[in-house]
Amino acid sequence: MDLFEYQARDLFAEHGVPVLDAVVAETPDAARAGAEQLGGGTVVVKAQVKVGGRGKAGGVKLAHGPDEAATQAEAILGMDIKGHTVHRVMIAQGAKIAEEYYVSLLLDRSNRRYLAMASREGGMEIEQLAVERPEALARVEVDPIVGVDAAKAAEVVEAGRFPAEVRDQVAAVLQQLWEVYRDEDATLVEVNPLVKTEDGRVIALDGKVSLDENAGFRHEAHAALEDAEAADPLEAAAKAKGLNYVKLDGEVGIIGNGAGLVMSTLDVVAYAGEDLGGVKPANFLDIGGGASAEVMANGLEIILGDPQVRSVFVNVFGGITACDEVANGIVQALQILGDEASKPLVVRLDGNNVEEGRRILAEAAHPLVTVEPTMDGAARKAAELAAAK
Ligand SMILES: Nc1ncnc2c1ncn2[C@@H]1O[C@H](COP(=O)(O)OP(=O)(O)O)[C@@H](O)[C@H]1O
Ligand SMILES: [Mg+2]
Repeated sequence: MDLFEYQARDLFAEHGVPVLDAVVAETPDAARAGAEQLGGGTVVVKAQVKVGGRGKAGGVKLAHGPDEAATQAEAILGMDIKGHTVHRVMIAQGAKIAEEYYVSLLLDRSNRRYLAMASREGGMEIEQLAVERPEALARVEVDPIVGVDAAKAAEVVEAGRFPAEVRDQVAAVLQQLWEVYRDEDATLVEVNPLVKTEDGRVIALDGKVSLDENAGFRHEAHAALEDAEAADPLEAAAKAKGLNYVKLDGEVGIIGNGAGLVMSTLDVVAYAGEDLGGVKPANFLDIGGGASAEVMANGLEIILGDPQVRSVFVNVFGGITACDEVANGIVQALQILGDEASKPLVVRLDGNNVEEGRRILAEAAHPLVTVEPTMDGAARKAAELAAAK
């Protein structure tokens, strides 16, 4: 989960990272009030969208006093920045910037380590710096067990060739950012720019934080950071039902048990759909080990609620939950859904107790259900049904 800048700023503040005072506003009047609250002096009005390069796109503007803050907010609210509409601005105290640096901590999956990156040339887009002048961007491995202690922070500061007068402050910030990273279960903490002000203070002026959603269960507070407006309504409904669902943009709804099976189901459907004018999977949905009638009904309900779906492929490999239980689950789910089930279902069952499972489906003889013996055959059938309509 990526955070907005103002949310990152709040987390930074909680962990002692030096930041500027700021308030969030959704209207020009609130922006004016916010600027007054900050003392009535120079502020910066910043678009809150989860995308970089806001400054260049005109989403970060200086304002001399509350009235100008309102005017700038009016111009920025509603603006489209790289496909993201601005619904909120952050009013932050204006900093007198002497120098701009870059620091980040991130998960380096390929090396199974954390990585600290740092440069005394911040502000610009770091991807560009990494390509054009990779030597200006220091990369220092961080041992997950040790983290960024004083020695590691000193190493990063040295590698980033920070000016002598800010080294202690930057090292302290790195250790505080590590606390954010570790204590909040983040996968990215980035500050660009970290600035030196004219009076020599080091402050985090912009923040980007990604939190590991898999660790959400140990952070009650993180749920409130979710951007409910931006969430896909089907994904939100699925999440509320405890389903593992990802919306895609094709036409064949997919239900399977086990992430690996569902992933390969997406592949075979996309492959079968290529010859049929590009029919594609409409979603990922893993109903997990216990495919009870209720879970099946919940899953079908979500998928059938997607107006783009034209057919559904139920692909189940019976293991601990045997095929007869899954078949009963499908039959009962269709009863539960009644008229809501309105699109053709192609079912492929295999594994434990498959004969009995197929017999149950044959006996129920639901008009919407077609049973196919193989995964490839079922994928083709589901893609054909989606293409035909
Ligand atoms: N509070 C502030 N005071 C003064 N200048 C700022 C402030 N916040 C941002 N800036 C300036 O605007 C630039 C862009 O802002 P930033 O928050 O980094 O957005 P983005 O990275 O999306 O462009 C910064 O590099 C900095 O020069
Ligand atoms: Mg920035």
